[in-house]
Amino acid sequence: MAFLVLLAAVLLVLSAQANAGFLSIDCGLDDEYSGYKDPNSGGIVYVSDGTYTDAGENLKVAPEYESYYQSHFLRSYLTYLARLAASYGNHDGRNDSSAMEFDVHLGANYWDTVRVRDNQVYEVVFVAWAGWAPVCLLNTGHGAPFLSMLELRRLGDALYPALMANQTMSMFRRRNMGGKFIRFPDDPYDRYWWTIVDPRWSNLSTAQNMQPDPSFAEPVVVLQTAATATGNSTALSYTWQDNRPAYSFMVFLHFADFQSAQLREFDIYFNGNRLGPSDKPYRPPYLASSTVCSFGWYRATDGN
Ligand SMILES: *[C@@H]1O[C@H](CO)[C@@H](O)[C@H](O)[C@H]1NC(C)=O
Ligand SMILES: *[C@@H]1O[C@H](CO)[C@@H](O)[C@H](O)[C@H]1NC(C)=O
Ligand SMILES: *[C@@H]1O[C@H](CO)[C@@H](O)[C@H](O)[C@H]1NC(C)=O
Ligand SMILES: *[C@@H]1O[C@H](CO)[C@@H](O)[C@H](O)[C@H]1NC(C)=O
Repeated sequence: MAFLVLLAAVLLVLSAQANAGFLSIDCGLDDEYSGYKDPNSGGIVYVSDGTYTDAGENLKVAPEYESYYQSHFLRSYLTYLARLAASYGNHDGRNDSSAMEFDVHLGANYWDTVRVRDNQVYEVVFVAWAGWAPVCLLNTGHGAPFLSMLELRRLGDALYPALMANQTMSMFRRRNMGGKFIRFPDDPYDRYWWTIVDPRWSNLSTAQNMQPDPSFAEPVVVLQTAATATGNSTALSYTWQDNRPAYSFMVFLHFADFQSAQLREFDIYFNGNRLGPSDKPYRPPYLASSTVCSFGWYRATDGN
């Protein structure tokens, strides 16, 4: 079984609500509760999925929206963020999600494999290639696919410039160094920035205003906290590991200095490859963010 969920075209229909450019679906919600404001997400409105899903079939967009939306799309390729969660909650009465998994596609592009036991949130950034984008759940023989939540956020045309129109970029980790979990309204695009704690680091913070990098629009509260190496250690290092060797990775590091008293400069390495300026150490800007990213996609042979 595969079912399609209609995404982008409905944005116009919803733009009259408080969070223009947001579509938040609480999957399986009774229609009578549709349109509730979630206090945990800064009052984002969640609707039921009744209008957006149709088992095995593609939903038809009302022609007036289709043509309007497509002409809009032709002017500028808009970037979107889609996020889903599939919380097991023993919905099938078997009390076992250990082997449950299914694939998610975004149009023709593979997005990710949802491993239900991990109970995590899956997120992807993509450039809209048509007036609407179907999210397709694919049964791969490990249990019937299901969703608890589906969210769509319009990011505009200035964010994530590295992304080409034919690519989808699935999130692996996004972390707020030295600070707490952040989402809307601190992040106007409702990206999730999870906290990260490491005993080798200490936290820095400031109340000063910070200037985000226009290509990434980091929340100011994220830029107002930072992590630094403790004690006499001169390196801040972190290892993230993934066991899916077919995946390629890109890293985006956001730096912003808020301690004017010190000269701050350092070298940055990603899997042994130097990033940032090639001939001199990197100096983060003062009270403004700049982003250092890997050149292209990195794939490790050993999964590291
Ligand atoms: C479900 O499984 C967990 C652990 O596998 C067990 O502790 C729990 O009692 C089970 N619940 C039911 C209702 O069978
Ligand atoms: C994606 O688009 C870029 C730029 O238009 C092109 O160079 C590249 O070959 C395309 N990749 C695929 C897989 O179609
Ligand atoms: C750093 O901040 C995080 C998030 O607020 C917190 O969980 C952690 O305990 C802090 N670490 C230290 C060493 O204070
Ligand atoms: C840092 O280095 C100094 C001088 O070598 C030493 O006295 C001190 O104990 C070290 N501090 C820590 C936290 O390791």
